[in-house]
Amino acid sequence: MNTGMIPSKLPSNTVDEGLFKDLANVLSHYARERKSGKVVEYQQYATLKNKLQSLDVTIGNQSWDSVWKTVETYLDNSVKTAHPQYFNQLWAGQSEPALVGSIIEAIANTSMYTYEVAPVATIIENEMLNVFKNVFGFSEGEAQVTTGGSNSNYVALLLALHEKFPNLKQSGLQGLPPCAVFVSADAHYSMDKAAVMAGIGLDSLYKVPTDERGVMNVDELEKQIQTCKAQGRVPVSIIGTAGTTVRGAYDNFDALADVAGQYHCWLHVDGAWGGAVAFAGETRKFLKGFERADSMTWDAHKMLGVPLMCGVLFTRNTGCFDRVCNLGDTSYIFHDTEDRQDLGPYSLQCGRRVDMLKMWLEYVFYGEQGFKERIDNFMHLSNIAEQRIQSEPTLELQSERWINNICFRTKVSRSDDLNSFNKSVRERLHRQGNSFVNIAYLGDELTIRLIITNKDVTESDIQTFFDLWLDAAAELDGELIQCA
Ligand SMILES: Cc1ncc(COP(=O)(O)O)c(C=O)c1O
Repeated sequence: MNTGMIPSKLPSNTVDEGLFKDLANVLSHYARERKSGKVVEYQQYATLKNKLQSLDVTIGNQSWDSVWKTVETYLDNSVKTAHPQYFNQLWAGQSEPALVGSIIEAIANTSMYTYEVAPVATIIENEMLNVFKNVFGFSEGEAQVTTGGSNSNYVALLLALHEKFPNLKQSGLQGLPPCAVFVSADAHYSMDKAAVMAGIGLDSLYKVPTDERGVMNVDELEKQIQTCKAQGRVPVSIIGTAGTTVRGAYDNFDALADVAGQYHCWLHVDGAWGGAVAFAGETRKFLKGFERADSMTWDAHKMLGVPLMCGVLFTRNTGCFDRVCNLGDTSYIFHDTEDRQDLGPYSLQCGRRVDMLKMWLEYVFYGEQGFKERIDNFMHLSNIAEQRIQSEPTLELQSERWINNICFRTKVSRSDDLNSFNKSVRERLHRQGNSFVNIAYLGDELTIRLIITNKDVTESDIQTFFDLWLDAAAELDGELIQCA
Protein backbone atom coordinates (compact mmCIF):
# COMPACT_ATOMS: atom_id res chain seq x y z
CA MET A 1 0.00 0.00 0.00
CA ASN A 2 2.89 2.37 0.60
CA THR A 3 3.41 3.98 -2.77
CA GLY A 4 6.24 6.07 -1.44
CA MET A 5 3.95 9.00 -0.98
CA ILE A 6 4.32 9.34 2.76
CA PRO A 7 7.09 11.87 3.24
CA SER A 8 10.05 10.32 5.04
CA LYS A 9 10.47 13.28 7.33
CA LEU A 10 7.18 14.24 8.87
CA PRO A 11 6.71 17.63 10.45
CA SER A 12 7.06 17.19 14.18
CA ASN A 13 4.94 20.10 15.16
CA THR A 14 1.94 22.00 13.91
CA VAL A 15 1.89 24.19 10.81
CA ASP A 16 5.45 25.03 9.84
CA GLU A 17 7.69 25.06 6.82
CA GLY A 18 8.20 21.29 7.05
CA LEU A 19 4.50 20.73 6.60
CA PHE A 20 4.44 22.61 3.32
CA LYS A 21 7.48 20.77 2.02
CA ASP A 22 5.79 17.49 2.82
CA LEU A 23 2.59 18.68 1.23
CA ALA A 24 4.53 19.65 -1.90
CA ASN A 25 6.00 16.10 -1.99
CA VAL A 26 2.56 14.56 -1.78
CA LEU A 27 1.23 16.84 -4.51
CA SER A 28 4.10 16.24 -6.90
CA HIS A 29 3.94 12.48 -6.33
CA TYR A 30 0.21 12.46 -7.08
CA ALA A 31 0.67 14.76 -10.07
CA ARG A 32 2.99 12.12 -11.60
CA GLU A 33 0.63 9.22 -10.89
CA ARG A 34 -2.70 10.71 -11.83
CA LYS A 35 -2.40 10.40 -15.59
CA SER A 36 -1.20 6.79 -15.81
CA GLY A 37 -2.03 3.29 -14.55
CA LYS A 38 -5.65 2.48 -13.88
CA VAL A 39 -8.31 5.19 -13.95
CA VAL A 40 -9.72 3.75 -10.76
CA GLU A 41 -9.22 0.73 -8.53
CA TYR A 42 -12.87 -0.21 -8.45
CA GLN A 43 -14.07 -1.53 -5.08
CA GLN A 44 -17.48 -2.24 -3.63
CA TYR A 45 -18.68 0.27 -1.03
CA ALA A 46 -18.37 -2.24 1.84
CA THR A 47 -14.82 -3.23 0.88
CA LEU A 48 -13.67 0.37 0.62
CA LYS A 49 -15.39 1.35 3.85
CA ASN A 50 -13.68 -1.54 5.56
CA LYS A 51 -10.32 -0.43 4.20
CA LEU A 52 -10.84 3.08 5.56
CA GLN A 53 -12.00 1.79 8.92
CA SER A 54 -9.05 -0.54 9.30
CA LEU A 55 -6.56 2.21 8.55
CA ASP A 56 -3.91 2.23 11.25
CA VAL A 57 -4.59 5.71 12.59
CA THR A 58 -5.68 6.94 15.99
CA ILE A 59 -8.32 9.65 15.93
CA GLY A 60 -7.35 12.70 17.94
CA ASN A 61 -3.69 11.92 18.59
CA GLN A 62 -2.57 15.00 16.66
CA SER A 63 -0.19 12.94 14.60
CA TRP A 64 0.90 14.06 11.13
CA ASP A 65 1.67 10.44 10.44
CA SER A 66 -2.06 9.71 10.73
CA VAL A 67 -2.92 12.65 8.49
CA TRP A 68 -0.53 11.61 5.70
CA LYS A 69 -1.61 7.97 5.90
CA THR A 70 -5.21 9.08 5.49
CA VAL A 71 -4.28 11.33 2.58
CA GLU A 72 -2.44 8.48 0.91
CA THR A 73 -5.42 6.17 1.27
CA TYR A 74 -7.73 8.87 -0.07
CA LEU A 75 -5.62 9.44 -3.17
CA ASP A 76 -4.89 5.75 -3.79
CA ASN A 77 -8.59 4.95 -3.84
CA SER A 78 -9.92 7.96 -5.71
CA VAL A 79 -10.84 8.12 -9.38
CA LYS A 80 -8.02 9.70 -11.39
CA THR A 81 -10.10 12.36 -13.06
CA ALA A 82 -7.08 13.76 -14.94
CA HIS A 83 -6.41 10.37 -16.55
CA PRO A 84 -6.67 10.44 -20.36
CA GLN A 85 -9.19 7.56 -20.23
CA TYR A 86 -11.56 9.45 -17.92
CA PHE A 87 -14.50 10.52 -20.10
CA ASN A 88 -17.22 10.19 -17.50
CA GLN A 89 -18.38 13.71 -16.66
CA LEU A 90 -18.75 17.17 -18.19
CA TRP A 91 -15.43 18.04 -16.56
CA ALA A 92 -12.11 16.21 -16.50
CA GLY A 93 -8.82 16.82 -14.76
CA GLN A 94 -7.92 20.41 -14.26
CA SER A 95 -5.78 22.97 -15.95
CA GLU A 96 -2.56 23.70 -14.08
CA PRO A 97 -2.70 27.51 -13.67
CA ALA A 98 -6.23 27.18 -12.26
CA LEU A 99 -5.06 24.35 -10.01
CA VAL A 100 -2.44 26.71 -8.57
CA GLY A 101 -5.26 29.20 -7.98
CA SER A 102 -7.24 26.57 -6.11
CA ILE A 103 -4.33 25.81 -3.80
CA ILE A 104 -3.52 29.49 -3.22
CA GLU A 105 -7.19 30.22 -2.56
CA ALA A 106 -7.21 27.54 0.13
CA ILE A 107 -4.18 28.86 1.96
CA ALA A 108 -5.17 32.53 1.79
CA ASN A 109 -8.68 31.48 2.92
CA THR A 110 -11.01 34.41 2.75
CA SER A 111 -14.62 35.09 1.86
CA MET A 112 -15.94 37.10 -1.06
CA TYR A 113 -18.58 39.07 0.86
CA THR A 114 -16.68 42.24 1.71
CA TYR A 115 -13.94 44.27 0.10
CA GLU A 116 -12.41 44.60 3.57
CA VAL A 117 -11.63 40.89 3.90
CA ALA A 118 -11.12 40.16 0.20
CA PRO A 119 -9.67 43.30 -1.43
CA VAL A 120 -7.68 41.85 -4.29
CA ALA A 121 -10.18 39.02 -4.81
CA THR A 122 -13.00 41.56 -5.21
CA ILE A 123 -11.11 43.38 -7.94
CA ILE A 124 -10.19 40.11 -9.66
CA GLU A 125 -13.79 38.91 -9.60
CA ASN A 126 -15.10 42.19 -11.02
CA GLU A 127 -12.45 42.27 -13.74
CA MET A 128 -12.99 38.63 -14.70
CA LEU A 129 -16.75 39.03 -14.83
CA ASN A 130 -16.34 42.07 -17.08
CA VAL A 131 -14.25 40.00 -19.48
CA PHE A 132 -16.90 37.28 -19.54
CA LYS A 133 -19.79 39.71 -19.92
CA ASN A 134 -18.14 40.91 -23.13
CA VAL A 135 -17.39 37.43 -24.42
CA PHE A 136 -20.93 36.18 -23.73
CA GLY A 137 -22.71 39.30 -24.96
CA PHE A 138 -24.03 40.63 -21.64
CA SER A 139 -21.82 43.72 -21.44
CA GLU A 140 -24.71 45.99 -20.47
CA GLY A 141 -25.86 43.69 -17.68
CA GLU A 142 -24.53 42.10 -14.51
CA ALA A 143 -22.87 38.85 -13.55
CA GLN A 144 -22.25 37.00 -10.33
CA VAL A 145 -20.25 33.99 -9.23
CA THR A 146 -22.35 31.08 -8.00
CA THR A 147 -21.66 27.66 -6.58
CA GLY A 148 -22.33 26.12 -9.98
CA GLY A 149 -24.89 25.53 -12.68
CA SER A 150 -27.64 24.21 -10.42
CA ASN A 151 -27.34 27.24 -8.20
CA SER A 152 -27.29 29.64 -11.16
CA ASN A 153 -30.43 28.05 -12.59
CA TYR A 154 -32.15 28.38 -9.24
CA VAL A 155 -31.18 32.03 -8.84
CA ALA A 156 -32.29 32.71 -12.43
CA LEU A 157 -35.73 31.28 -11.65
CA LEU A 158 -35.94 33.54 -8.59
CA LEU A 159 -35.03 36.54 -10.76
CA ALA A 160 -37.79 35.61 -13.22
CA LEU A 161 -40.37 35.23 -10.45
CA HIS A 162 -39.42 38.55 -8.85
CA GLU A 163 -39.60 40.27 -12.22
CA LYS A 164 -43.11 38.93 -12.82
CA PHE A 165 -44.35 39.55 -9.26
CA PRO A 166 -42.59 42.71 -8.01
CA ASN A 167 -44.00 42.36 -4.50
CA LEU A 168 -42.76 38.79 -4.10
CA LYS A 169 -39.91 39.80 -1.80
CA GLN A 170 -42.39 41.08 0.73
CA SER A 171 -45.50 38.97 0.27
CA GLY A 172 -44.10 35.61 -0.84
CA LEU A 173 -46.00 33.25 -3.10
CA GLN A 174 -49.21 33.26 -1.00
CA GLY A 175 -52.13 34.74 -2.84
CA LEU A 176 -50.41 34.71 -6.23
CA PRO A 177 -51.95 32.90 -9.19
CA PRO A 178 -50.33 29.57 -10.13
CA CYS A 179 -47.49 30.09 -12.55
CA ALA A 180 -45.84 28.13 -15.31
CA VAL A 181 -42.21 27.65 -16.26
CA PHE A 182 -41.20 25.91 -19.50
CA VAL A 183 -38.09 23.83 -20.01
CA SER A 184 -37.12 21.33 -22.65
CA ALA A 185 -37.61 17.66 -21.86
CA ASP A 186 -33.80 17.34 -22.17
CA ALA A 187 -33.08 20.11 -19.64
CA HIS A 188 -30.83 19.39 -16.68
CA TYR A 189 -32.51 18.05 -13.54
CA SER A 190 -31.42 21.15 -11.62
CA MET A 191 -34.48 22.85 -13.13
CA ASP A 192 -36.74 20.41 -11.25
CA LYS A 193 -34.86 21.23 -8.07
CA ALA A 194 -35.10 24.95 -8.78
CA ALA A 195 -38.89 24.71 -9.15
CA VAL A 196 -39.13 22.95 -5.79
CA MET A 197 -36.72 25.28 -3.99
CA ALA A 198 -38.40 28.38 -5.42
CA GLY A 199 -41.69 27.11 -3.98
CA ILE A 200 -43.64 26.92 -7.25
CA GLY A 201 -43.54 23.11 -7.24
CA LEU A 202 -43.13 20.53 -9.96
CA ASP A 203 -46.71 21.02 -11.19
CA SER A 204 -45.62 24.44 -12.45
CA LEU A 205 -42.72 23.04 -14.46
CA TYR A 206 -43.71 22.13 -18.02
CA LYS A 207 -41.41 19.91 -20.04
CA VAL A 208 -41.56 20.65 -23.73
CA PRO A 209 -40.70 17.75 -26.08
CA THR A 210 -37.54 17.93 -28.17
CA ASP A 211 -36.92 16.88 -31.76
CA GLU A 212 -34.57 14.09 -32.88
CA ARG A 213 -31.56 16.40 -32.48
CA GLY A 214 -32.52 17.32 -28.91
CA VAL A 215 -33.86 20.82 -29.72
CA MET A 216 -36.93 22.15 -27.90
CA ASN A 217 -39.98 22.08 -30.17
CA VAL A 218 -41.10 25.71 -30.33
CA ASP A 219 -44.59 24.93 -31.69
CA GLU A 220 -45.15 22.60 -28.74
CA LEU A 221 -43.85 25.32 -26.43
CA GLU A 222 -46.43 27.78 -27.71
CA LYS A 223 -49.20 25.20 -27.42
CA GLN A 224 -48.25 24.51 -23.81
CA ILE A 225 -48.15 28.22 -22.99
CA GLN A 226 -51.61 28.74 -24.45
CA THR A 227 -53.01 25.74 -22.56
CA CYS A 228 -51.52 27.01 -19.30
CA LYS A 229 -52.92 30.47 -19.85
CA ALA A 230 -56.37 29.02 -20.56
CA GLN A 231 -56.10 27.24 -17.20
CA GLY A 232 -55.34 30.52 -15.41
CA ARG A 233 -51.61 29.97 -15.00
CA VAL A 234 -49.19 32.86 -15.47
CA PRO A 235 -46.28 32.04 -17.82
CA VAL A 236 -43.18 33.24 -15.97
CA SER A 237 -40.11 31.86 -17.67
CA ILE A 238 -38.88 29.90 -20.65
CA ILE A 239 -35.62 28.09 -20.13
CA GLY A 240 -33.53 27.13 -23.13
CA THR A 241 -30.38 25.04 -23.00
CA ALA A 242 -27.05 25.74 -24.65
CA GLY A 243 -25.47 22.29 -24.72
CA THR A 244 -27.78 19.71 -23.17
CA THR A 245 -26.28 17.34 -20.66
CA VAL A 246 -26.56 14.20 -22.78
CA ARG A 247 -26.55 15.18 -26.46
CA GLY A 248 -24.95 18.63 -26.21
CA ALA A 249 -27.86 20.14 -28.17
CA TYR A 250 -28.64 23.85 -28.50
CA ASP A 251 -32.12 25.29 -28.53
CA ASN A 252 -33.16 27.92 -31.06
CA PHE A 253 -32.65 31.01 -28.89
CA ASP A 254 -33.98 33.49 -31.42
CA ALA A 255 -37.24 31.55 -31.62
CA LEU A 256 -37.41 31.22 -27.83
CA ALA A 257 -36.75 34.96 -27.43
CA ASP A 258 -39.61 35.73 -29.83
CA VAL A 259 -42.01 33.53 -27.85
CA ALA A 260 -40.77 34.94 -24.55
CA GLY A 261 -41.38 38.47 -25.85
CA GLN A 262 -44.85 37.59 -27.04
CA TYR A 263 -45.92 36.11 -23.69
CA HIS A 264 -43.93 38.47 -21.45
CA CYS A 265 -41.76 35.68 -20.05
CA TRP A 266 -38.25 35.80 -18.71
CA LEU A 267 -35.88 33.90 -21.03
CA HIS A 268 -33.12 32.02 -19.24
CA VAL A 269 -30.45 30.05 -21.07
CA ASP A 270 -28.73 27.23 -19.24
CA GLY A 271 -25.29 27.24 -20.83
CA ALA A 272 -23.59 25.54 -17.88
CA TRP A 273 -21.94 23.10 -20.27
CA GLY A 274 -22.19 24.38 -23.83
CA GLY A 275 -21.99 28.12 -23.10
CA ALA A 276 -18.21 27.71 -23.36
CA VAL A 277 -18.42 27.70 -27.15
CA ALA A 278 -18.66 31.49 -26.79
CA PHE A 279 -14.85 31.26 -26.86
CA ALA A 280 -14.78 28.91 -29.84
CA GLY A 281 -14.42 29.46 -33.57
CA GLU A 282 -16.86 27.52 -35.72
CA THR A 283 -19.09 26.16 -32.93
CA ARG A 284 -19.86 29.62 -31.56
CA LYS A 285 -22.63 29.76 -34.13
CA PHE A 286 -24.79 27.49 -31.93
CA LEU A 287 -25.26 30.39 -29.49
CA LYS A 288 -26.99 32.58 -32.06
CA GLY A 289 -29.69 34.62 -30.36
CA PHE A 290 -28.63 33.79 -26.80
CA GLU A 291 -27.66 37.39 -26.10
CA ARG A 292 -31.40 38.12 -26.24
CA ALA A 293 -31.85 36.07 -23.05
CA ASP A 294 -32.61 37.79 -19.75
CA SER A 295 -30.13 35.56 -17.94
CA MET A 296 -27.62 32.87 -18.67
CA THR A 297 -25.82 30.16 -16.68
CA TRP A 298 -22.24 29.16 -17.46
CA ASP A 299 -19.79 26.92 -15.59
CA ALA A 300 -16.08 27.56 -16.02
CA HIS A 301 -15.42 24.29 -14.18
CA LYS A 302 -16.79 22.26 -17.06
CA MET A 303 -15.36 22.75 -20.56
CA LEU A 304 -12.75 25.29 -19.48
CA GLY A 305 -11.04 22.88 -17.08
CA VAL A 306 -11.06 25.12 -14.00
CA PRO A 307 -11.21 22.98 -10.82
CA LEU A 308 -14.73 22.57 -9.39
CA MET A 309 -16.61 24.85 -8.67
CA CYS A 310 -16.64 28.02 -10.76
CA GLY A 311 -20.14 29.04 -11.83
CA VAL A 312 -21.32 32.31 -13.36
CA LEU A 313 -24.80 33.77 -13.84
CA PHE A 314 -25.27 36.65 -16.30
CA THR A 315 -28.22 39.03 -16.55
CA ARG A 316 -29.14 41.32 -19.42
CA ASN A 317 -30.27 44.14 -17.17
CA THR A 318 -28.83 45.64 -14.01
CA GLY A 319 -30.37 45.65 -10.55
CA CYS A 320 -31.80 42.09 -10.64
CA PHE A 321 -29.46 40.62 -8.02
CA ASP A 322 -29.92 43.61 -5.74
CA ARG A 323 -33.69 43.17 -5.89
CA VAL A 324 -33.64 39.50 -4.92
CA CYS A 325 -30.58 39.04 -2.72
CA ASN A 326 -30.03 42.31 -0.84
CA LEU A 327 -31.89 41.68 2.42
CA GLY A 328 -31.91 41.73 6.18
CA ASP A 329 -29.94 43.50 8.89
CA THR A 330 -26.39 43.39 7.59
CA SER A 331 -24.96 46.17 9.71
CA TYR A 332 -22.60 43.72 11.41
CA ILE A 333 -20.90 42.91 8.12
CA PHE A 334 -21.45 45.56 5.44
CA HIS A 335 -20.21 48.95 6.59
CA ASP A 336 -20.85 52.32 5.06
CA THR A 337 -17.27 53.21 4.31
CA GLU A 338 -16.13 55.72 1.77
CA ASP A 339 -14.81 52.99 -0.50
CA ARG A 340 -17.51 50.36 -0.15
CA GLN A 341 -17.19 47.75 -2.90
CA ASP A 342 -18.78 44.71 -1.26
CA LEU A 343 -20.09 41.93 -3.50
CA GLY A 344 -21.91 40.10 -0.69
CA PRO A 345 -25.27 41.90 -0.97
CA TYR A 346 -25.75 40.62 -4.52
CA SER A 347 -25.28 36.94 -3.74
CA LEU A 348 -27.61 34.42 -2.08
CA GLN A 349 -24.63 33.27 -0.04
CA CYS A 350 -22.96 34.90 2.90
CA GLY A 351 -19.57 33.18 3.08
CA ARG A 352 -18.30 32.48 -0.42
CA ARG A 353 -15.09 31.03 -1.81
CA VAL A 354 -12.74 32.97 -4.08
CA ASP A 355 -13.51 30.82 -7.12
CA MET A 356 -12.42 33.50 -9.59
CA LEU A 357 -8.79 33.30 -8.52
CA LYS A 358 -8.58 29.93 -10.31
CA MET A 359 -10.20 31.45 -13.35
CA TRP A 360 -7.99 34.55 -13.26
CA LEU A 361 -4.76 32.55 -13.27
CA GLU A 362 -6.10 30.41 -16.10
CA TYR A 363 -6.89 33.59 -18.02
CA VAL A 364 -3.50 35.16 -17.26
CA PHE A 365 -1.79 32.03 -18.58
CA TYR A 366 -3.91 31.20 -21.65
CA GLY A 367 -5.99 34.28 -22.48
CA GLU A 368 -9.06 34.07 -24.69
CA GLN A 369 -7.02 32.76 -27.61
CA GLY A 370 -5.86 29.80 -25.50
CA PHE A 371 -9.46 29.01 -24.53
CA LYS A 372 -10.50 29.17 -28.16
CA GLU A 373 -7.75 26.75 -29.20
CA ARG A 374 -8.64 24.35 -26.41
CA ILE A 375 -12.34 24.24 -27.23
CA ASP A 376 -11.71 24.00 -30.96
CA ASN A 377 -9.41 21.06 -30.22
CA PHE A 378 -12.19 19.30 -28.27
CA MET A 379 -14.38 19.63 -31.34
CA HIS A 380 -11.58 18.29 -33.56
CA LEU A 381 -11.07 15.26 -31.28
CA SER A 382 -14.82 14.70 -31.14
CA ASN A 383 -14.89 14.65 -34.91
CA ILE A 384 -12.21 11.97 -34.86
CA ALA A 385 -14.30 9.96 -32.38
CA GLU A 386 -17.33 10.30 -34.63
CA GLN A 387 -15.34 9.14 -37.66
CA ARG A 388 -14.10 6.12 -35.75
CA ILE A 389 -17.68 5.18 -34.81
CA GLN A 390 -18.75 5.52 -38.41
CA SER A 391 -15.87 3.35 -39.58
CA GLU A 392 -16.65 0.46 -37.18
CA PRO A 393 -19.40 -1.86 -38.43
CA THR A 394 -20.48 -2.80 -34.89
CA LEU A 395 -20.87 0.78 -33.62
CA GLU A 396 -23.49 3.42 -34.25
CA LEU A 397 -23.93 7.09 -33.40
CA GLN A 398 -27.30 7.41 -31.67
CA SER A 399 -27.78 11.13 -31.97
CA GLU A 400 -26.36 13.72 -34.32
CA ARG A 401 -23.25 15.23 -32.77
CA TRP A 402 -23.28 18.94 -31.92
CA ILE A 403 -20.17 19.51 -29.81
CA ASN A 404 -18.01 17.23 -27.64
CA ASN A 405 -20.81 14.95 -26.42
CA ILE A 406 -20.72 11.72 -28.40
CA CYS A 407 -23.65 9.36 -27.93
CA PHE A 408 -23.00 5.91 -29.35
CA ARG A 409 -23.48 2.21 -28.71
CA THR A 410 -22.53 -1.20 -29.97
CA LYS A 411 -25.38 -2.04 -32.29
CA VAL A 412 -24.56 -5.64 -33.11
CA SER A 413 -24.23 -8.33 -30.50
CA ARG A 414 -25.47 -11.80 -29.69
CA SER A 415 -27.51 -10.27 -26.91
CA ASP A 416 -31.04 -9.29 -27.87
CA ASP A 417 -31.01 -6.63 -25.18
CA LEU A 418 -28.69 -3.91 -26.45
CA ASN A 419 -29.30 -1.72 -23.41
CA SER A 420 -27.98 -4.30 -20.98
CA PHE A 421 -25.18 -5.36 -23.36
CA ASN A 422 -23.83 -1.81 -23.70
CA LYS A 423 -24.23 -1.19 -20.00
CA SER A 424 -22.21 -4.33 -19.27
CA VAL A 425 -19.40 -3.31 -21.63
CA ARG A 426 -19.21 0.05 -19.91
CA GLU A 427 -19.16 -1.60 -16.47
CA ARG A 428 -16.46 -4.02 -17.56
CA LEU A 429 -14.16 -1.15 -18.58
CA HIS A 430 -14.91 0.66 -15.34
CA ARG A 431 -14.36 -2.39 -13.13
CA GLN A 432 -11.10 -3.20 -14.89
CA GLY A 433 -10.06 0.41 -14.41
CA ASN A 434 -9.13 0.74 -18.10
CA SER A 435 -11.51 3.47 -19.12
CA PHE A 436 -14.37 5.36 -17.52
CA VAL A 437 -17.23 6.57 -19.69
CA ASN A 438 -20.85 7.27 -18.76
CA ILE A 439 -24.28 6.03 -19.77
CA ALA A 440 -27.53 7.92 -20.23
CA TYR A 441 -30.87 7.33 -21.89
CA LEU A 442 -32.28 8.74 -25.11
CA GLY A 443 -35.90 7.82 -24.61
CA ASP A 444 -35.80 4.10 -23.81
CA GLU A 445 -32.47 3.57 -25.49
CA LEU A 446 -29.36 3.40 -23.39
CA THR A 447 -26.51 5.38 -24.87
CA ILE A 448 -22.82 5.55 -24.09
CA ARG A 449 -22.06 9.21 -23.50
CA LEU A 450 -18.45 9.97 -24.31
CA ILE A 451 -17.31 13.44 -23.23
CA ILE A 452 -14.02 14.81 -24.50
CA THR A 453 -13.12 17.71 -22.22
CA ASN A 454 -9.67 17.03 -20.82
CA LYS A 455 -7.17 19.40 -22.42
CA ASP A 456 -4.44 16.75 -22.25
CA VAL A 457 -6.37 14.09 -24.19
CA THR A 458 -4.86 13.30 -27.59
CA GLU A 459 -6.06 11.64 -30.76
CA SER A 460 -4.27 8.47 -29.71
CA ASP A 461 -6.19 8.42 -26.36
CA ILE A 462 -9.44 8.56 -28.33
CA GLN A 463 -8.37 5.66 -30.53
CA THR A 464 -7.27 3.74 -27.41
CA PHE A 465 -10.71 4.27 -25.90
CA PHE A 466 -12.41 2.71 -28.94
CA ASP A 467 -9.87 -0.15 -29.06
CA LEU A 468 -10.64 -0.89 -25.40
CA TRP A 469 -14.37 -0.60 -26.01
CA LEU A 470 -14.34 -2.94 -29.01
CA ASP A 471 -12.17 -5.51 -27.19
CA ALA A 472 -14.44 -5.49 -24.13
CA ALA A 473 -17.54 -5.81 -26.34
CA ALA A 474 -15.99 -8.73 -28.28
CA GLU A 475 -15.01 -10.43 -25.03
CA LEU A 476 -18.53 -10.09 -23.65
CA ASP A 477 -20.02 -11.29 -26.89
CA GLY A 478 -17.73 -14.34 -26.74
CA GLU A 479 -18.91 -15.11 -23.22
CA LEU A 480 -22.51 -14.95 -24.41
CA ILE A 481 -21.82 -17.72 -26.97
CA GLN A 482 -20.29 -19.91 -24.30
CA CYS A 483 -23.34 -19.40 -22.06
CA ALA A 484 -25.77 -20.15 -24.91
C1 LIG B 1 -26.94 21.74 -18.77
C2 LIG B 1 -26.52 21.67 -17.32
N1 LIG B 1 -27.01 22.58 -16.46
C3 LIG B 1 -26.68 22.58 -15.15
C4 LIG B 1 -25.83 21.61 -14.65
C5 LIG B 1 -25.50 21.61 -13.19
O1 LIG B 1 -24.22 22.11 -13.00
P1 LIG B 1 -23.48 22.01 -11.58
O2 LIG B 1 -22.99 20.60 -11.50
O3 LIG B 1 -22.39 23.01 -11.69
O4 LIG B 1 -24.48 22.33 -10.53
C6 LIG B 1 -25.30 20.64 -15.51
C7 LIG B 1 -24.42 19.60 -14.99
O5 LIG B 1 -24.01 18.70 -15.65
C8 LIG B 1 -25.68 20.66 -16.87
O6 LIG B 1 -25.23 19.75 -17.74
